[in-house]
Amino acid sequence: MSDEFSLRNRLSSTVVKELTVGLTGLMLVLFVGAHLAGNILIYAGPASYNAYAAKLQAMGPLLWFMRLGLLAAFVTHIGMAINLDIVNRQARANRYAVNTYLGRKTVATRTMLASGIIIFLFVLVHLYDFALSDKTGPASIVPGANNNQSLGLFGLVWNSFRDPVRVLFYVTASCAVGFHLSHAVASVWVTVGVLRDEDTPVADLVARLLGLAVAVGFSSIPIYVFVQIHFFGGGPT
Ligand code: HEM
Repeated sequence: MSDEFSLRNRLSSTVVKELTVGLTGLMLVLFVGAHLAGNILIYAGPASYNAYAAKLQAMGPLLWFMRLGLLAAFVTHIGMAINLDIVNRQARANRYAVNTYLGRKTVATRTMLASGIIIFLFVLVHLYDFALSDKTGPASIVPGANNNQSLGLFGLVWNSFRDPVRVLFYVTASCAVGFHLSHAVASVWVTVGVLRDEDTPVADLVARLLGLAVAVGFSSIPIYVFVQIHFFGGGPT
């Protein structure tokens, strides 16, 4: 009896944690979509890209409020996902493991953890690369463009993709984000109770297309810049 009670408690707290992972994940997906829409402006040239960055900066305190919300969602998402993984491992190691919800482990959850770790490491390097870097100094001057004056954030991003190792790193991370997102978006509707397991084929397809768009969209940016620099003369068009 007490075992049953304890199992029910663990199940309900697991459901709350899964809901939290799902909802914070949705917030992160919204950020990723908006971030891609902004960064794709690299194709429109320095003026459009920097105007977008300036608009964000002009939001002032609201931007910081959104950044804090994003950070809170990111930390909660990772913390809860790791906690769920530990609970699942423990459940498999004891007698609840026999055919219980807590004991399940799929290929998707394993790869979600791996892609999640790649994304976490990527975000740390990425913030150091761009968010925390000097956007007006020498690193933002694209040789031969804009009379060798700073091209602001555009110049910083452009110059950083001169390096093939960084391009490879960004492409790998972009694919990890697309993959992670496609699995997450496919399952979150069941987790939050919007869809039943048997209703998911269309949601799965939409999620895969979304993941593909995110992976291709982000990857295309470093590849485009690298090709422009090394095969078409170096400067922005
Ligand atoms: C590959 C293409 C990408 C490019 C060119 C890019 C570019 C940038 C730039 C320029 C910034 C600094 C903005 C500023 O300080 O004003 C930034 C910030 C950021 N990026 Fe990316 N990014 C890319 C992919 C990603 C991906 C895939 C993620 C998420 C997994 C991501 C997450 C972030 C975060 C969390 C910030 C900080 C946001 C902020 O300071 O407001 N980025 N990115």
